[in-house]
Amino acid sequence: MVNLAVLISGNGSNLQAILDAVADGDLPGVKVALVVSNRKDAYGIQRAFKHGVPVVYFPKLPYTNAGRPRADYDADLARIVQSFDVDWVIQAGWMHIFTNAFIRVFPNRILNLHPALPGMFPGAHAIADAFAAYQRGAIEHTGVMVHLVPDEAVDAGPVVAQEAVPILPDDTLETLEARIHAVEHRLLVSAIKTVLHIENLRNS
Ligand code: GAR
Repeated sequence: MVNLAVLISGNGSNLQAILDAVADGDLPGVKVALVVSNRKDAYGIQRAFKHGVPVVYFPKLPYTNAGRPRADYDADLARIVQSFDVDWVIQAGWMHIFTNAFIRVFPNRILNLHPALPGMFPGAHAIADAFAAYQRGAIEHTGVMVHLVPDEAVDAGPVVAQEAVPILPDDTLETLEARIHAVEHRLLVSAIKTVLHIENLRNS
């Protein structure tokens, strides 16, 4: 069994895509062993509960308030995740950038989902940034990617899957977001299959 930890900060629609794929037998041998949220009101927490998946709510604020460095938070979270026997960490809308204190515990075993193509619009507002760039004529399409997280670079790393997403002349930010999320839900599951397939080949 391959154990995933899915890290979320909000709605968790991509967590839901993974949970559905597992329930439908589309990710054989995979279990969501843990969901971590850094926000108490993240709707994804309810999604995890509905599927009987353990949830850890782990906010950074107490560390910040105590004047402790980010690496302390990251190292403590890595220990918690490890205690659930986790093989792969999936950042699915996780709005926190890990330092090496977390990354080194899961070398080449962290995937990040980002709603833009490689090298484009890093950060928390990628869809709005792409929409604005389209409106000033700078781009014709945007996209989605899933990449490995080898270091502290933001929304960058070896790409496992990517797909272009068109922006249409009559799009609003909401219609573009909906089109991107639909692609994300498919691409994230497909990227998980890809990395696990490569791992199987390596071990065979
Ligand atoms: C997704 O669009 C994901 O790509 C994005 O947050 C959203 C979470 O949606 N992540 C980033 O912007 C990372 N820089 P969800 O909570 O419904 O899965």
